Amino acid sequence: MSCGNEHFKDRKMEGGKISLLGFLVSLVFTRVVGGAGVKGLASCNFPAVYNFGDSNSDTGAGLSATIRPTQPPKGRICDGRLVIDFIGKNTSGLPRPEDFSKALYTLDIGQNDCYQALFGYPTPVIPDLINNFTAALQSLYDEGGRAFWIHNVGPNGCLPFIRRKILGQKQETLDKNGCVNSLNEIVMEYNKQLKDRVIKLRADLPDASITYVDVYTVKYNLISNAKSLGFTGPFTQCIYNTTCENPSMHISWDGVHYTEAANHIVAKDILNGSLSDPPVSITHACHKSVSSYLS
Ligand SMILES: *[C@@H]1O[C@H](CO)[C@@H](O)[C@H](O)[C@H]1NC(C)=O
Ligand SMILES: *[C@@H]1O[C@H](CO)[C@@H](O)[C@H](O)[C@H]1NC(C)=O
Ligand SMILES: *[C@@H]1O[C@H](CO)[C@@H](O)[C@H](O)[C@H]1NC(C)=O
Ligand SMILES: *[C@@H]1O[C@H](CO)[C@@H](O)[C@H](O)[C@H]1NC(C)=O
Repeated sequence: MSCGNEHFKDRKMEGGKISLLGFLVSLVFTRVVGGAGVKGLASCNFPAVYNFGDSNSDTGAGLSATIRPTQPPKGRICDGRLVIDFIGKNTSGLPRPEDFSKALYTLDIGQNDCYQALFGYPTPVIPDLINNFTAALQSLYDEGGRAFWIHNVGPNGCLPFIRRKILGQKQETLDKNGCVNSLNEIVMEYNKQLKDRVIKLRADLPDASITYVDVYTVKYNLISNAKSLGFTGPFTQCIYNTTCENPSMHISWDGVHYTEAANHIVAKDILNGSLSDPPVSITHACHKSVSSYLS
């Protein structure tokens, strides 16, 4: 599901239906760029990237195809590029069926599912979510997908809209940065179970190379160092009701989604593999031997 502010209304009408990996949000016709080389390993030369995820990685088509048209100016919920846009390089060609097994499959999902508690939906049943995630990944594998790059969930308790909303409803403890502890704890538990499952999947799917990427840590560091990185603060945002002059001064675009400036920092921090398990850059995420060796 997408997670724009308006969206919470839609979700209520759906009667709390939870959807994990519900749809293909963006099919990115690109090659992978960026990331440092790894000694002794050849670059994977992925001919295409297929992304599955929520609005954090929706470049426009997913939301429009499933829920409502995306809005100007960018056709996505951001003032510019998303993390996925920093991963791909435009080759102006459609991927061919023979590329499916050589492509990189990126997955960035779970943020909305981890919100459920706040909006009165049943507390997320984390093991159930993880099982559903596994089933989705298994289907991609059955269709021939082999290289998977999995983003964990970022710190929901630091998202300005969510923070404002929950603090308006109840008393919550905040951490040293002002983020809501309880929401981040749900995410951390989800991420822990996701990581455990990835390790298991490496054994269950013998031909897959699966990289787990700790986006949570990158985003949390960004929040902690907001001012020194040139942002006005950890919780300011660009649009709530209105537009703002200088989006790059804010981490958050609309209270839920990051700005291009913040996404760029996140992308730089994850692409070289320093927060990946195994620690390979995205350009080398096809090497099964590295995956199995390290886990
Ligand atoms: C991709 O590259 C082609 C050829 O250079 C160009 O015509 C096209 O507009 C580009 N598409 C995007 C989305 O940048
Ligand atoms: C898991 O998937 C099943 C089958 O699609 C669905 O009924 C269930 O609600 C999902 N669970 C969660 C927690 O999303
Ligand atoms: C937007 O502004 C209007 C008028 O100031 C206000 O009534 C409304 O609640 C605001 N909406 C949001 C989402 O803040
Ligand atoms: C990865 O990139 C980040 C951000 O550019 C940098 O701080 C970090 O030192 C790099 N790590 C490695 C192992 O290259």
